[in-house]
Amino acid sequence: MEPRVLMADPKYFDVEYVINPHMAGHVGGVDRDLARDQWSQVKATYEDLGFPVAVIDPVPGLPDLVFTANQSFPGRLPDGRAAAVRSHMHAPQRRPEVDVVFEWHAARGTSIFDLADEPLAFEGMGDAMWVPGRRQILGGHGFRSEPGALTALAQRFEADLIAVRLIDARWYHLDTCLQLLDAERALIVREAFDAPSLELLERTFPTLVDVPLDEALRLACNGHSPDGRHFIVQSGCPVTADRVRDLGLDVIEVDTSEFLKSGGSVFCMKLMLP
Ligand code: ARG
Repeated sequence: MEPRVLMADPKYFDVEYVINPHMAGHVGGVDRDLARDQWSQVKATYEDLGFPVAVIDPVPGLPDLVFTANQSFPGRLPDGRAAAVRSHMHAPQRRPEVDVVFEWHAARGTSIFDLADEPLAFEGMGDAMWVPGRRQILGGHGFRSEPGALTALAQRFEADLIAVRLIDARWYHLDTCLQLLDAERALIVREAFDAPSLELLERTFPTLVDVPLDEALRLACNGHSPDGRHFIVQSGCPVTADRVRDLGLDVIEVDTSEFLKSGGSVFCMKLMLP
């Protein structure tokens, strides 16, 4: 069966360095057995919803490889061909992950692109997402990806770009503070954005669902709806879960506590394939 989701085996997942505020105090503090159980639960959830998962082999020395949302940005070119744009990770420690993921994309015959001759920092679906049903990309900059990279990305896919600026390091990636449910509705952590960006988001998405601060810090916005009907989210985020249920979605809770120590949860533990 064609995979719809890409994940990476968590064998070497750990917190080995601190490149976002969530990681502080957690170096060497991951329970790897528990992490594997949690990762397997996330994988099984996608499979149960009808999304076959492909798994990349683990690589020693690349503890963040498990966050497969980050090393590439997949999509379809206007002519329908599957393509993937290479990321250029902001942190040097994460740069070798990109080749590992691209070997996998290349083996499937996906067309592969760099964004620029001189690499601009770009962290894949951590900072850029397709607006469902539209030829439009929502991109975030401020901590990791550079604005020029988002512009080049939209040009490459011949898509419109909505670019927003992140201003709070706790929500260092767009996927930690904004989660699209469909083309009209999104979960949001408002304090993560500067004022013009917030206005732009309010104009673009008629329904913005607020996530309370404590749940935002448990990365409730990093939950994910793969089909517009189910929302997979970190457990212990009851207010967010209720608000999403009120919109008519089924909420599926998973525990990603070990991955939260690294600043990641459901959305960034996988890559959706076109
Ligand atoms: N430790 C990783 C980093 O800071 C976590 C990445 C989580 N990914 C995401 N898309 N939010 O880069």
